[in-house]
Amino acid sequence: MNKRIVSLAMATLLGLSLAACSSGDSTSGTDDTGSSAKTEGTDGGASSSDVANKDKPLVWFNRQPSNSSTGELDTAALNFNDKTYYVGFDANQGAELQGTMIKEYIENNIDKIDRNGDGVIGYVLAIGDIGHNDSIARTRGVRKALGTGVEKDGDINSEPVGTNADGSASAVQDGTLEIGGKKYTVRELASQEMKNSAGATWDAATAGNAIGTWSSSFGDEIDIIASNNDGMGMSMFNAWSKDNEVPTFGYDANSDAVAAIAEGYGGTISQHADVQAYLTLRVLRNALDGVDVDTGIGTADDAGNVLSDDVYVYREEERSYYALNVAVTADNYQDFTDSTKIYEPVSAQLDESAHAVKKVWLNIYNASDNFLSATYQPLLQNYDDILNLDVEYIGGDGQTESNITNRLGNPGQYDAFAINMVKTDNAASYTALLSQ
Ligand code: BGC
Repeated sequence: MNKRIVSLAMATLLGLSLAACSSGDSTSGTDDTGSSAKTEGTDGGASSSDVANKDKPLVWFNRQPSNSSTGELDTAALNFNDKTYYVGFDANQGAELQGTMIKEYIENNIDKIDRNGDGVIGYVLAIGDIGHNDSIARTRGVRKALGTGVEKDGDINSEPVGTNADGSASAVQDGTLEIGGKKYTVRELASQEMKNSAGATWDAATAGNAIGTWSSSFGDEIDIIASNNDGMGMSMFNAWSKDNEVPTFGYDANSDAVAAIAEGYGGTISQHADVQAYLTLRVLRNALDGVDVDTGIGTADDAGNVLSDDVYVYREEERSYYALNVAVTADNYQDFTDSTKIYEPVSAQLDESAHAVKKVWLNIYNASDNFLSATYQPLLQNYDDILNLDVEYIGGDGQTESNITNRLGNPGQYDAFAINMVKTDNAASYTALLSQ
């Protein structure tokens, strides 16, 4: 290509990535996330390589290929080819942080937490997806820290209880916390999976309705609200807990939840989405460049990008990168106000002459998921420019895999793939398309 064509192509690409940014700003729930980011025409509409689809780089992210009943990893999907990885975060470390954050809040605010003074600290719990390992870990983390967990098959039972007014539910038990020499009972008054009638999980609107029902049954017995994520947490905060000054604890550190800490939201956990979004695209970039996968991760790249080992771990046997979590509370929330800000140590632009533009197909399983649309995708859109990746963003409906796989009709047009499944069991629906 001569210089003029290159600069024309670059101008087109720039325009396209701006279009992708503006369409991705929407959290409206429509699945138009990527439709304006079509890449046809930038370079004749085809990927620049003749690599077979089955040999192209592939990254799973946010939903780890695994059995939704047992949690067992889907090793076939994680080893689809030698350029396949998963990027997520350390679910157990984060879950433990969330549980501890809530417990410490209770200890530090014991003088006012028990609203009706009956000696029972009551909480309600919004569960995201009973078949998602991250959701299961968070439910366990809260129950473990508060002493309400009971063992099932060698681990803490993570099933929802429905309602548990008198403490007799079998999936949980009443816990005991001794604070300042006094013993308090801790009771999970209610919990349910927040799934809407169309089947979408982690559903914020469902959580907003649930707190309405729970607050009319339990009133001032509810002292704490725990949620598997901020999308559901903020819905409950806005619907009830803010006005009633009951602290809500979520997960994700979305910007709106962090801002709400100033208004009484109890706290959240950052799953370091700024590191995850980088890793998601970085492992693809490295495979496309044919360099060691650690480049720009544990080892500085030619632009100086590098991550320190306090923000992620790599588990070779799981082919998985996990970002580490940080608790965000009233003490430190000022440092987390913009969840879409890229992580400074990996913010240097790659040189296009050494890292040519490549095409990536990437889907978000549910275009209306708060975390993915308000935090993760904007971060990906910031990093795709830095890494010279021309990403087509596809937004799913959160309910059916086919809504997404139908839009992977021509994998030959792309150099690499980044996949966020609706259901963690369904990796084969995608790999089948890449194997044809
Ligand atoms: C996030 C949730 C999100 C889910 C989607 C989780 O890691 O915490 O907010 O709904 O991923 O898969």
